[in-house]
Amino acid sequence: MLQKTVDFINKKIKGELGDFVPEIGIVLGSGLGELADEFCSLAIPYTEIPGFEASTVSGHKGRLVFAQINGKNVVMMQGRFHFYEGHPMQKVVYPVKVMKKLGVKTLIVTNAAGGVNPSFNPSDLMVITDHINFMGTNPLIGENDDSMGERFPDLSSVYTPELVDLTKRTADKLGIDLQEGVYIAFTGPSYETPAEIRMAGTLGADAVGMSTVPEAIVAAWAKMNVIGISCICNSAAGVSAAPLSHSDVIHAAGIAKDRFKVLVKEVIKGL
Ligand code: HPA
Repeated sequence: MLQKTVDFINKKIKGELGDFVPEIGIVLGSGLGELADEFCSLAIPYTEIPGFEASTVSGHKGRLVFAQINGKNVVMMQGRFHFYEGHPMQKVVYPVKVMKKLGVKTLIVTNAAGGVNPSFNPSDLMVITDHINFMGTNPLIGENDDSMGERFPDLSSVYTPELVDLTKRTADKLGIDLQEGVYIAFTGPSYETPAEIRMAGTLGADAVGMSTVPEAIVAAWAKMNVIGISCICNSAAGVSAAPLSHSDVIHAAGIAKDRFKVLVKEVIKGL
């Protein structure tokens, strides 16, 4: 199936863009999809791609977008597949495997997240330095494709240290405040309880969300460089007294999105 998907996409690319090999992949999180509207040379809806599912969350468009950004060939996922939508893990991470086969060397994964660290504020950006997989499963369970990665991959540095540094230096140069920290993934779709968030903080997490970890694990397994950027959209449950809502999350992402785009474009320039 993977080869069928890759052949389908490569044929589309060849027809529309000629010799175009994407070297950077970007997964755009909730409310952060605008980069793919700003730069779009070719867009393929997920519904047309064999092997892809349709994304069901509002704030997610559901298409694969190809473009050149700052001289680099990029493929963007405008909308991702979440485990909480009921997709099996295999489907959640499928596009990352496709990106690898298309030629992507560096994956930038982004998301909307809750702030566990009490010093974080809504609409802060955070570069992910490490993660905690609290989803109770692993996207690599099942038969291993030895041509892509090894059975027991090392996850000592999922988020490429040099690229964490590049992201921090780039933010500094642009005058963008950038937090850094550990992202913990729960399955969702319910937000966490205050007790769960206290636990997450005790475990060392700074931000919490419902995505990113599966994609990052598969990218590391397939020996891709990884950059993770969270948009802190709310204080996680119990960190502030306010109840959580998806519309507040999208609103906070809207406030951060211009800074987010400037940062990502400049990071791409430095890759
Ligand atoms: N928890 C989990 N996922 C999220 C949150 C949160 O507080 N905010 C945005 N995505």
